[in-house]
Amino acid sequence: MCGIIGYIGSKNAVPLVINGLRNLEYRGYDSAGIAAVVDGKLIVKKDVGKLDEVFSKVDISNLKSNVAIGHTRWATHGKVTKENAHPHTDCKGEIAIVHNGIIENYQELKKELESKGHIFRSETDSEVIAHLIEEGMKTKNFVDAFNEMIKKIVGSYAIVAINKDGKEMIGARKDSPLVVGISEDGYFIASDVPSFLDETKKVIYLYDGDVVVVNKKIVIYHDGKPVERDIDSIEWDAEQAKKGVFKHFMLKEISEQADVIKRAIMQDDKIINEIANEIKKSKGVFFVGCGTAYHACLEGSYIFSKVANMHVNVTYAHEFPNYVHFLTPESLVIAVSQSGETADTLEAIRAAKAKGAKVISIVNVAGSTLVRESDKVLLQHAGPEICVLSTKSYTSQLAVLTLLAYSLAGRLEEGKSKLKELIRYIYYLTSRNTRDYIRKLAEKLKDVKDIYIIGRDLQYPTALEAALKIKEVSYIHAEGFAGGELKHGNIALIEEGTPCIVFTSKENEKEIISNAAELKARGAYIIGVGPRNNEVFDFFIKVREAEEANSIVQIIPIQILAYQLAILRGLDPDKPRNLAKSVTVK
Ligand code: M6R
Repeated sequence: MCGIIGYIGSKNAVPLVINGLRNLEYRGYDSAGIAAVVDGKLIVKKDVGKLDEVFSKVDISNLKSNVAIGHTRWATHGKVTKENAHPHTDCKGEIAIVHNGIIENYQELKKELESKGHIFRSETDSEVIAHLIEEGMKTKNFVDAFNEMIKKIVGSYAIVAINKDGKEMIGARKDSPLVVGISEDGYFIASDVPSFLDETKKVIYLYDGDVVVVNKKIVIYHDGKPVERDIDSIEWDAEQAKKGVFKHFMLKEISEQADVIKRAIMQDDKIINEIANEIKKSKGVFFVGCGTAYHACLEGSYIFSKVANMHVNVTYAHEFPNYVHFLTPESLVIAVSQSGETADTLEAIRAAKAKGAKVISIVNVAGSTLVRESDKVLLQHAGPEICVLSTKSYTSQLAVLTLLAYSLAGRLEEGKSKLKELIRYIYYLTSRNTRDYIRKLAEKLKDVKDIYIIGRDLQYPTALEAALKIKEVSYIHAEGFAGGELKHGNIALIEEGTPCIVFTSKENEKEIISNAAELKARGAYIIGVGPRNNEVFDFFIKVREAEEANSIVQIIPIQILAYQLAILRGLDPDKPRNLAKSVTVK
């Protein structure tokens, strides 16, 4: 779950790679580094810390080169130290590599290489890559040695390598994303498109097993043979992947939600109806996803039940192996994922395909692995989501699932107009007025230890998502429950002053208010979120009734609350500790 990028061409590669890393930092930010070829020598600069800290510590003023690679790390093997930061080099410092993924057989390979005299400097699995190439280059050229290395490693990888000759840059991928960017002056190989969007929108999405060699031209090999891959053009522009007037991506992305819903509605009806037909035809539907995407799946199951009178099974993608034996060629698996690169989700759909089941995906990132491996895809068109927290991708997934449910019920137009009606309101919900109002609550809650959140029916998944938002960005312990579960144990946690957020709706008002009263009777401080104020609330956030779209509107004030809690606690909301945007390792 790291970010990697390399550039080769006629421009100075160093600022391009550093700028690229800045755009990739959401993938990992515990250390960073760069390797460039200067006067036939490989120079490596790396250290621990976020990108700006690293490049204020290391001196890159004299680094000018036409080829460079860079890395921003999210540690898997080996602690966060300078030695473990990438790029890694061979014994002589003539080959440099950056890697995202996990080399499962690195211990055996390391032992073997050490017995041949190789000296390792880091605790990482990645370093074996550089030494394997070095070993191969005793008898072969750089490209052949790279290919031989690929045959020896087992696991998941996106790799970019250069050597001191600086003549070519080589990349390879397996189960980790890697794309090639084609600009007028050179080529990029990177984990993700936003890293080079400032320079080009022309990309090639590499396939698993591809090896790409770039010098003055690009050659892609698969199973040792040259292959042709399509050149795609990206619909996002560089501005969309930048913060603009916002201080943080999180706030920018929260504020984009009205437009995101608008874009979800502009989906091609034909695709929605086609997918709805697949759902109708199938015998047994599973929704799978992780984290926020799982919450969207769970919410989707309520929407399908309510709107289309249809039952779907929902499971975390990583728990899906427990259900795979139920699949037949008539089953349908619907995977939901912002990135389309989540390893657990990919593994779930591969298991489904192995059973002959159909796979449909709801994905934001076009060209992602999930898009390529699915039978049918519904793109979210939410635009790039850079903040580690999913905000706009969640509401966009809910909008798409709502449209599918309405299409299943034969009322797609009605579903569209229901969502359309919310757009102006969402502008208001994300406006400065709402933010100022919620700030008062954030100031009150900023030092609390725990926050509990309840919701019933469709708002139970909303409670889970609200808790995830608060805890991942503010590090305040937050837990979501179904309102009905309180008395089955959870109410024991309530003490004098414990903040509890209560999501309400017209439909379940009586029951959820009675749950709120039970909490209040134990001393809880009650924050109501819903269409109508009530005397039980100590603080009230009015959100208008939107029936099965309640979650889309009700989550927004809590996303804002989570953001403000992080700011008031002096935290960086875009880069929460220990997290990375896409979890491409298992
Ligand atoms: O890219 P995906 O939607 O597949 O990612 C799934 C989760 O890793 C993701 O939603 C994660 O839980 C977010 N950090 C939540 O804000």
